[in-house]
Amino acid sequence: MRAVVCRELGSLDNVVVEERPDPCAGPGQVVVGVRAAGVNFVDGLMCQGRYQMRPAAPYGPGGEMAGDVLSVGEGVTRVQVGERVMAMTGFGAFAEQVLVPAGSLEPVPAELSYGQAASFIQSYSTAWFTLARRAALCEDEWLLVLGAGGGVGLAAVDVGVALGAHVVAAASSAEKLERARALGAEAAVAYEQEDLKTRARELSGGGVDVVVDPVGGRHSEPALRATKRFGRFCVIGFAAGPIASIPLNQVLLNNRTVVGVDWGAWAFSDPGASRELLAEILDMAANGRLHPAEPTARPLEDAGAVMAGLLERSVNGKVVLVP
Ligand SMILES: NC(=O)c1ccc[n+]([C@@H]2O[C@H](COP(=O)([O-])OP(=O)(O)OC[C@H]3O[C@@H](n4cnc5c(N)ncnc54)[C@H](OP(=O)(O)O)[C@@H]3O)[C@@H](O)[C@H]2O)c1
Repeated sequence: MRAVVCRELGSLDNVVVEERPDPCAGPGQVVVGVRAAGVNFVDGLMCQGRYQMRPAAPYGPGGEMAGDVLSVGEGVTRVQVGERVMAMTGFGAFAEQVLVPAGSLEPVPAELSYGQAASFIQSYSTAWFTLARRAALCEDEWLLVLGAGGGVGLAAVDVGVALGAHVVAAASSAEKLERARALGAEAAVAYEQEDLKTRARELSGGGVDVVVDPVGGRHSEPALRATKRFGRFCVIGFAAGPIASIPLNQVLLNNRTVVGVDWGAWAFSDPGASRELLAEILDMAANGRLHPAEPTARPLEDAGAVMAGLLERSVNGKVVLVP
C-alpha cells in the first residue's frame, strides 16, 4: 500500500509517500481502507517535532480517518467487513490502509460523507466538550470565537449556534469570516484590522459571555477583556505560537473565569464518556442540528503541503487527504 511517511522530525520536506506492506489484523484489530483522512494542526506540529508528543521517526502521520472495513482480526464482533467506519487513530491515517483497535471505531452515519466524517471527531468533539461541558454555554448568550475559519473555530461556531447562542466570529480574512457567517455567525471581526475588544463589545451589546480561543498570541488578552460579568474564557490552543500571559486582575474584574480545555487528555482518560460525547454529536450531525462542511480533498502526495498550509495559516476550513 501507499502511505505517507515522516522520515525525520523537522522540515515538512521530510514528509513523503512510500510503498509499505499492507497491515494485517491481529486479535481485536481491524484493517480499514482509508477513504479520507482529516489533516489537523497537530499533525504538522508533530512532524516538525514541535508537539508535546514526539514520535520516533520514521513514522506514519495522520490522526483521524474514515473508510471501509477491509478485514477483522480474531474476536472482533463490533464491526463487519464492508462497514463504513471512522476513528481517531493517533498515527498512520495518511495511508491507503490503517490498522485500528476495533474498540475505537464508530460507524459513519449514512448522512455523512467520508470526508465529513474524517474531519469531524477532533474539531467537533473539542468544540462540544468546550462549549456544552466546560463552559456550559446557554441559549441567548454571546459567544466570541477566535480563529473562526479554522477547524476548531468553525466547529465552535456551529456548536454555538446549535446551543442557541449569538456568535461573533473573529478571523484574519474575509473568506474565513464568510465561511463562519455561512454557518450562522451573526457578526464578524477582522481581528488583524479591527480592535477586537472594542468591536466584540459593540457587536454583542456590551460584552460577550464566552470566548473560544484556539489561537493564543496577541488576540487572547483583548478577547478576555471583551467578556462581560461572569464571562468564561476557554483556552484551547496556541496556533499563533506565543502563549499569552494575561494579567490576573482581568480575571478578578467582572468575576470572570478562565477555563482550560484538554479534550484529548480527557478522551484518553475516559474513553466511555468520550464515546458518549461523540455519539451525541454524530446524532446531531445526522439530524441536521450540526453542519460539518464538506472538506477540500487533496491526494496523499500533498500531505506536507497541506500541513504547511495549516501552520502558515493559509487553509480555509478543513482539508482531507484522499488516497
Ligand atoms: N485543547 C484541545 O483539546 C485541542 C483540541 C484540538 C485542537 N487544539 C489546538 O487548537 C489549535 C487550533 O487547531 P485547529 O485544528 O483549529 O487549527 P487550524 O484549522 O489550523 O485553525 C487555527 C487557526 O488559528 C489562526 N491563527 C492565527 N495565527 C496563526 C498562525 N501564526 N499560524 C497558524 N494559525 C494561526 C488561523 O486563523 P486566522 O488566520 O483567522 O487567524 C487558523 O485558522 C491548535 O493549536 C491545536 O493544537 C486543542
